[in-house]
Amino acid sequence: MTIETTGAHGAGGVLLSLTDIGKTYVEPVLGGVRLQLRPGQVLALTGENGAGKSTLSKIICGLEQASTGAMLLDGQAYLPASRGDAEKLGIRMVMQELNLLPTLSVAENLYLNQLPQRFGWIDRARLERDARAQMAKVGLDDIDPWTLVGQLGIGHQQMIEIARNLIGDCRLLVLDEPTAMLTHREVELLFAQIERLKAAGVAIIYISHRLEELKRVADRIAVLRDGELVCDDSIAHYSSADLVRLMVGRAADADIDLSGRNIGAPLLRLDGLGRKGAVQPATLEVKAGQIVGIAGLIGSGRTELLRLIFGADRADQGQLFIGDGTAPARIDSPSDAVAAGIAMITEDRKGQGLLLQQSIAANTSLARLDGVSSRGWLDDAAETALGQRYIEQLGIRSRHPGQTVAELSGGNQQKVVIARWLYRDCAVMLFDEPTRGIDIGAKFDIYNLLAELARQGKGLLIVSSDLRELMLICDRIAVMSAGRIVDTFERGAWSQDSLLAAAFSGYLQTHGGTSGADNAVAA
Ligand SMILES: Nc1ncnc2c1ncn2[C@@H]1O[C@H](COP(=O)(O)OP(=O)(O)OP(=O)(O)O)[C@@H](O)[C@H]1O
Ligand SMILES: [Mg+2]
Repeated sequence: MTIETTGAHGAGGVLLSLTDIGKTYVEPVLGGVRLQLRPGQVLALTGENGAGKSTLSKIICGLEQASTGAMLLDGQAYLPASRGDAEKLGIRMVMQELNLLPTLSVAENLYLNQLPQRFGWIDRARLERDARAQMAKVGLDDIDPWTLVGQLGIGHQQMIEIARNLIGDCRLLVLDEPTAMLTHREVELLFAQIERLKAAGVAIIYISHRLEELKRVADRIAVLRDGELVCDDSIAHYSSADLVRLMVGRAADADIDLSGRNIGAPLLRLDGLGRKGAVQPATLEVKAGQIVGIAGLIGSGRTELLRLIFGADRADQGQLFIGDGTAPARIDSPSDAVAAGIAMITEDRKGQGLLLQQSIAANTSLARLDGVSSRGWLDDAAETALGQRYIEQLGIRSRHPGQTVAELSGGNQQKVVIARWLYRDCAVMLFDEPTRGIDIGAKFDIYNLLAELARQGKGLLIVSSDLRELMLICDRIAVMSAGRIVDTFERGAWSQDSLLAAAFSGYLQTHGGTSGADNAVAA
């Protein structure tokens, strides 16, 4: 990669300067943003879901045009009309939502705009060589460059999106929630790349809801609230508590109320349920009113276990029992699972079947149309009222229940996914990373909702990479490592250290057994 670091815009100069940037769709969502970025600087950009972070990034990277204000790059007017325009000037963006072409190979996705040619033919040998070199930078050495992107897990897809943006000239890189779907190892690889870019004088805007990451990578912090910049300062001036207050405008709650629950009869029992190469036989029970967590590193088989329970993958060992049934249940597909009263809220919004062009209300009622219909006709008023109810309950930032989901911010789309399944009203609810991409304040709204579901007698099984989250809300935590449940802890008997030790334990043995992999090539 070639990077310009010399000349008038050396370490002391200003690379990018924004003046009074504003954006209005139907209503204003961004206003009066002034910001300056210097080469080699890492700016953490944060704020609540819907505060305007992605919109500002898209304006800088040419994907959206500002309604007001001006931008200067190296002191020259900068008005990118498209992403391509911005990329020509070395301004690049890793988007929050994946943006790859699933039917093309990894190599083709990496070099989509610049496929190497030889006598007018695509030079496949060179393409493969170049792709391998780029993939090695982000630790994807073990993936064949000709694999179709659609066959990869979302974590790997995210890494490819990152690798693609490390190709060619780069002077400013915007990373919009790059780590939401990454494993610990991949996060480290990303941070190493950020250090390298920084040393080469590349400016970086880093968007994340994860405090510890912001403090680790950034020099400066900028906070958006309701589309306005309320802070632009050196990050060293702020404690974690200060940062939370800045991000959500108040101190975050420290606790949730789990009282008032009756732990009842078992709703779901696994007896040695497993699938060769993915999940070792797992035994587990979830009772009415109980919240059970599954901890483990990404890739430890947690998602695979949920998929077995939900019938998304076929179990080839063991049995599953529902309610107090003594005969094993047959669940061969997700629709069997739903019919048996099991819901699954996955981590993948797009895969979840969110209908982006439909309204919040329509997306919510989809799970249970009979709830908003009478004599077979859809009752618009009932559907709207339903949408409104969840907008209030989950704090979905939107104009009205009829607003299309495509117009919502990433975190608010995630809330719509959750609303749909809450409305579905299943006895057992499986959650995979329920608060991914959700801001710190809204996380507590979701925790309180989970507590309320448990009070209503539902059984919850929650996969999360955030140990503090699990320790806050669970009665019991099962830890998976290398495809196996290695330990189970009751509330009061766990510590962060004991959970972590268990999570790593399966990888410390010398034999190279197969592990389940959340990010592995899909079956
Ligand atoms: N195409 C659009 N039409 C109308 N409103 C939009 C459109 N795109 C975004 N918005 C609105 O702009 C506001 C800011 O959204 P943005 O995606 O920038 O938020 P964000 O800070 O990135 O949030 P998150 O943390 O959830 O990703 C939101 O209220 C959103 O609904
Ligand atoms: Mg966003």
